[in-house]
Amino acid sequence: MKLLAIYGSPRIQGNSELLLDNFLEGAKASGCRITRLYVRDLNIFPCTACGECEKTGYCPLQDDMQIVYPLLLDTDALVVATPVYFYGVPAQLKALIDRCQLIWQKNKKKKPLFLKPGYLISVGGAKGQHAFDGVILTIKYFFLTLGVKLEQILTYAGVDAAGAIKQHPSALNEVHTAGGRLCSK
Ligand SMILES: Cc1cc2nc3c(=O)[nH]c(=O)nc-3n(C[C@H](O)[C@H](O)[C@H](O)COP(=O)(O)O)c2cc1C
Repeated sequence: MKLLAIYGSPRIQGNSELLLDNFLEGAKASGCRITRLYVRDLNIFPCTACGECEKTGYCPLQDDMQIVYPLLLDTDALVVATPVYFYGVPAQLKALIDRCQLIWQKNKKKKPLFLKPGYLISVGGAKGQHAFDGVILTIKYFFLTLGVKLEQILTYAGVDAAGAIKQHPSALNEVHTAGGRLCSK
């Protein structure tokens, strides 16, 4: 099974990255073939709402989305790890998601299939009841556009300093187990 892993944080070796690394260790042990995408290393322009994808089916912005589109469409499973930024996802990740308007336009008249499994791992510094609401909705709709079903959501609140997730009593084991289940299904 091909698994695409999207690292959404601009922070190197941050909490969401550590969580995703552990998830992928589990997934690798169960036989997944993994492709890692670090959004912070990509050059992705924000969508300009030019309307070209609706008219012609193509995006006139030439950047690293040309690498990302085939990876998104060709994978069997998808996992996104992201911090919470102002109740949403970081701008770099949001730019990637918004550029999937091209795919949304192509598929808008088709019934969603929900064939591929998708996972969300998210971490935030605050502890409020609604801390992950914005991230979950954004990722759910991103997945819907790609025909991916959000199967499991793993969120960790109150984790702020880089690496603080290592002090969490169960997080790294939980994500490792979730990754391990993915490809042994
Ligand atoms: C620009 C910015 C905005 C943030 N906004 C939120 C927020 O709205 N809610 C929250 O719980 N944490 C917020 N945080 C804290 C991060 O989610 C937290 O530090 C997280 O552990 C970072 O994950 P990372 O190490 O994977 O980057 C914000 C941090 C930054 C830098």
